[in-house]
Amino acid sequence: MSFDVDAVRADFPILSRQVNNRSLVYLDSGASAQKPRQVIEAITRAYEGEYANVHRGLHFLSNLATDNYERVRAIIARFLNAPHEDELIFTSGSTEGINLVSYGWAAPRLQAGDEIVLSVLEHHANIVPWHFLRERQGVVLKWVEPEPDGSLPPEKVLAAVGPRTKLIAVTHMSNVTGTVIDIGAIARGTDVPVLADGSQAAVHMPVDLAALGVDFYCVTGHKLYGPSGSGAMWIRRERQAEMRPFLGGGDMIRTVTRDAVEYADPPLRFEAGTPGIVNQIGLGAALEYLMDLGMDNIAAHERSLRDYARDRLGSLNWLQIQGDAPDKGAIFSMTMQGAHAHDLSTILDKRGIAVRAGSHCAMPLMEFFGITASARASFAMYNTRRDVDALVEGLTFCHELFA
Ligand SMILES: Cc1ncc(COP(=O)(O)O)c(C=O)c1O
Repeated sequence: MSFDVDAVRADFPILSRQVNNRSLVYLDSGASAQKPRQVIEAITRAYEGEYANVHRGLHFLSNLATDNYERVRAIIARFLNAPHEDELIFTSGSTEGINLVSYGWAAPRLQAGDEIVLSVLEHHANIVPWHFLRERQGVVLKWVEPEPDGSLPPEKVLAAVGPRTKLIAVTHMSNVTGTVIDIGAIARGTDVPVLADGSQAAVHMPVDLAALGVDFYCVTGHKLYGPSGSGAMWIRRERQAEMRPFLGGGDMIRTVTRDAVEYADPPLRFEAGTPGIVNQIGLGAALEYLMDLGMDNIAAHERSLRDYARDRLGSLNWLQIQGDAPDKGAIFSMTMQGAHAHDLSTILDKRGIAVRAGSHCAMPLMEFFGITASARASFAMYNTRRDVDALVEGLTFCHELFA
């Protein structure tokens, strides 16, 4: 099946708007993706006619909302080819998911001197929850640096594993360089549990959890064309059995007395309080939309976009691109001598082009590249070669301005 990018674009109302009197060129999907009308309609439908709290009432609307909400667990399981639906914990996003593992699995198990292996490519969401354990209980963080081109060979990660390593936490795709990490090879090469941050990867390529062999895998809904405040953490059953609950409250218990509490079975055990009901329903609609298009088709479209952008941006000899691993997504971190990343972003914005400037929540990686900030263009399935051309023209204008 071929991929009809114009038909996809027509599903995203915001893409036809003007910004600063120019047609919008949205190249900030790595921060948050735009939403198709299928998602917007699912949200509206849920609030207009199908809303109540879930898991609680015995009335019609509560049962309907519960069915619609719980159905999303099955959709996510299908999207990620997760072996068991109950291994999926609903979260508000990857940050909550990784904190759940840090508080629920790692904190009660790791002792002072135990090690967590991390890559320098990580987003702060996959760094700070492990710093908590370093600060509070003396856990040691072992860092693995990428190659100069931003790639991270699995052997390099495995070489950092020692007798006291209790967890390997690595991203599946860098949000700065787009580097894809072979997390399957890492998981196959060790018995140490592996947490993979799928926040970026799951948006751009098919993910097969049954085959990957990792123990923890998170996705965040707003990057997957769904609502912010939605997401899931997949936790292998054996690891779930080792966890204590993270947040306590309603919905995660079987009984509560004055003296004791008995917890519900997973996944509810890890989902305290009223959840983001409609957010998750919107995420379900987004994933169904992606599966209808086919993740292989999306990946092929984005690969061709990446190659085109790599050629065009690579030909600008006054532009530095951080990270050019052979296996990378269509994400480009860029700096220009004499121009600050914020200036680039502001000038591009005047031309209707949205890119992100800053450290991209990846300060250790910025330090590795010897910079403090970059401008990042992150492409999504609705982007076209015209968008790449607009970016190149915009950057050329910046260069002429600052040269
Ligand atoms: C690689 C990666 N991990 C984690 C996150 C955190 O996701 P969220 O802010 O949705 O929790 C992001 C978001 O930018 C990301 O790109």
